Amino acid sequence: MLKLGVNIDHVATVREARYRGQSFGEPDPVAAAIECERAGAHGITVHLREDRRHIQDRDVWKLREVVRTRLNLEMANSPEIVEIALRLKPEIVCIVPERRQEVTTEGGLNVLAAEGEIAETRRRMNQMGIQVSLFVSPDIEQIEAAARVGSQFVELHTGSFANSFSEPEKRDAELNRLITAARRAHALGLLVNAGHGLNYSNLPHLLTVPHLVELNIGHSIISRAVFVGLAAAVREMLALLESYKG
Ligand code: PXP
Repeated sequence: MLKLGVNIDHVATVREARYRGQSFGEPDPVAAAIECERAGAHGITVHLREDRRHIQDRDVWKLREVVRTRLNLEMANSPEIVEIALRLKPEIVCIVPERRQEVTTEGGLNVLAAEGEIAETRRRMNQMGIQVSLFVSPDIEQIEAAARVGSQFVELHTGSFANSFSEPEKRDAELNRLITAARRAHALGLLVNAGHGLNYSNLPHLLTVPHLVELNIGHSIISRAVFVGLAAAVREMLALLESYKG
C-alpha cells in the first residue's frame, strides 16, 4: 500500500500571515495534524526552516506529543536544526537543501558535494533511532551518493515532473527519469518516497513509478481543504493512492 504523508507547513503559512511573532493564532497546524490522521493519513510532515517562515519550534514540540502515526521532520543539514531533531526524535528526518549552494540544478539536495557532512548527520540520527531520507533529484549520481552515505530512504523530487505536466513529451521524459531513479534506488537497497508539486491531477501519472513507499503532499491538499475541508481533502488523495500497483 502506498502511504500518504501530509505536509502541513502551509497551515502555518496562513497562520503566520496574520499572527507572525505571536505565540498563538489560527489555523493551528497541530489541530490540522490530528484531523489529517483521523482522515487516514499515514504520516505528518513539517519543515522547520532555519528562517522559521511557517512552522515554529513550539509547533514541532506539540506535534511530537500528538502525532500517533509518523512524524517526518524536513530539515536543512545545519547544526542548529540537527540538534533540535536529535532532541525531538521524529520517526524520520528528510534532509532538504535550504541554501543555494546545497541545491542541484533541479532543486534536490546535492549529496555528492557534501557526502562527509551528510554521512555524519545520518549516523547521529540513526544512533538516536531516527530514520533518514534525502530529498534528491531523480539523478543517478545523487542516488548512488545517497546509498554511499547510508541513508535509509531517498525522496525523489517530483518538481520537474509537476512543472512539465501540461507538456506531454516533457512530462513523459520526467516520468522516465523518475522511473529509472526509483529502480536504481531500489536496486541499491534504498526505500523510495516522492514529493513536491504533486496534486489531484498529476498524481495518477506519477503512479507509474515503481517501488514507491510514501508520497509527501502538502500544497494541493491544503488548497483543496479551503473548499471541501481538510478531512475530505485527505480522503480524496488517499482514494487516488489506492490504485497504486507498486
Ligand atoms: N517533500 C519535500 C521534501 C518538500 O520540501 C516539500 C515542500 O515543502 C514537499 C514534499 C511537499 O510539496 P508540496 O507542498 O508542493 O506538495
